[in-house]
Amino acid sequence: MEFFKFTLTLTAIAFLSATLSSSHPGFNFGWGSPGGNGGFSFGLYPEFYQSSCPQADEIVISVLERAIANEPRMAASLLRLHFHDCFAQGCDASVLLDDSATIVSEKKSLPNRNSIRGFEVIDEIKAKLEEACPNTVSCADILALAARSSTVLSGGPNWELPLGRRDSKTASISASNNNIPPPNSTVQNLLTFFKRQGLNEVDLVALSGGHTIGVARCATFKQRLYNQNGNNQPDQTLEKAYYYGLKSVCPRTGGDNNISPLDFASPARFDNTYFKLLLWGKGLLTSDEVLFTGSVGTTMELVKKYAEDEGLFFDQFAKSMVKMGGISPLTGFEGEVRKNCRRLN
Ligand code: HEM
Ligand SMILES: *[C@@H]1O[C@H](CO)[C@@H](O)[C@H](O)[C@H]1NC(C)=O
Repeated sequence: MEFFKFTLTLTAIAFLSATLSSSHPGFNFGWGSPGGNGGFSFGLYPEFYQSSCPQADEIVISVLERAIANEPRMAASLLRLHFHDCFAQGCDASVLLDDSATIVSEKKSLPNRNSIRGFEVIDEIKAKLEEACPNTVSCADILALAARSSTVLSGGPNWELPLGRRDSKTASISASNNNIPPPNSTVQNLLTFFKRQGLNEVDLVALSGGHTIGVARCATFKQRLYNQNGNNQPDQTLEKAYYYGLKSVCPRTGGDNNISPLDFASPARFDNTYFKLLLWGKGLLTSDEVLFTGSVGTTMELVKKYAEDEGLFFDQFAKSMVKMGGISPLTGFEGEVRKNCRRLN
C-alpha cells in the first residue's frame, strides 16, 4: 500500500539529498565458556548489570529518545558506530578513542573519516552513566545498547542483548581500513569480509538491512553513476529514474559530501523496504544492489524473502546483531572500563 507512493518520491530524492557457533574462536558467550586461559573465560550475558547498574538501559534510552527526536538520522549513525567498532579489533569501543600520544584514532580511517558520527551522544550517555553508576558500564556495551535502542526507536525489532564487554586500551586504524568492506564491493568480497568475522551469508544479508535507515555521501556511490566498470558507463543494474535522480544529487565532479538516503522510501523508518528497493534496482550502494544481482544465489533468495516477509527479516536481524555484537569482546579482567569513552583511564 505504502508502496505506490515510492515512485512519486523520486523527485524528492534530490530534495532530501540537499545462530551462534560456540566453537567459533571469535565469539564469547555464556558464563564460563572454555577460553584460552586455563580453560575458563568470562562471557557476555544479558543480566550483566542487573545488580551493578540496573538502570543502565533506561538511561541509554532516555538520552536516545531526545537525540533521535531531535535528529532521526542519529539512530542510523549510532547503529553504524557499533558495526564499525565490532569489525575493527572486536566490539571493544576502539572506534571511540581519539588521537593521543599512544593512540592512532580509527576515526581517520578510510571508511570512517568525514563519515562516522554520533560521538557526542555516546559522550552524553557515558556522562549520565558515570553519575549513576561510576566505573561500571563499558563504552563497548554503550555502543551495543545504543545500536539496539536506535533500532527499536526507529520501528525495528528488539532483542535480548548479551553484555559485559570491556573497553580496549588500543585502537587499530589498519584493522579499520582493512576489515570494513568498501561500498563498491562485489558480493564475493562482502562474503569474504564477513567470514573473516565469523559471519555468514545470512548475517551479511540481514545486517545489510541496517541500510533501511540513514544516508550515504555521493563519494560512496559516484562510481556507479559515471564509471562502474572502467568504461565510463553507469552501473546497468540501476533503475533508470532512480539513476537520473541520483545524478542530480551527485555530479560527476564535486559534490562528494552531498547525501542521499540508503532507503529513499522510508529513510528514518526501520522496515523491510530496503529489500523491496533492491528488487527494483533502487539500492544506493553497489554493496547493496549486488546482494540481489550478484552471482551468489543464496543472497538473492534471502533478499527476496526479506522483501516479502518483514517479520523474517526482523528475527534474523536481531539474531545477527547479537552475533556481530559477540565478535572478539574483551571480558573479565581484560581491558578496562573507560571513564571517558574518548581516552584511556
Ligand atoms: C555489508 C557491508 C557494508 C558496507 C559496504 C557499508 C557501507 C556503508 C557506506 C559507504 C555508508 C555511507 C557512509 C558515508 O556516507 O560516508 C554506510 C552507511 C550506513 N551503514 Fe553501512 N555498510 C555495510 C554494512 C552495514 C552494517 C552491517 C550495518 C549495521 C547493522 C550498517 C549500517 C549503516 C547505517 C545505519 C548507515 C547510515 C549512517 C548515517 O546515516 O549516519 N552498514 N554504510
Ligand atoms: C573501489 O573503489 C576504490 C577507491 O575508489 C578503487 O580503488 C577500486 O578500484 C574500486 N574497486 C572496484 C571493484 O571497482
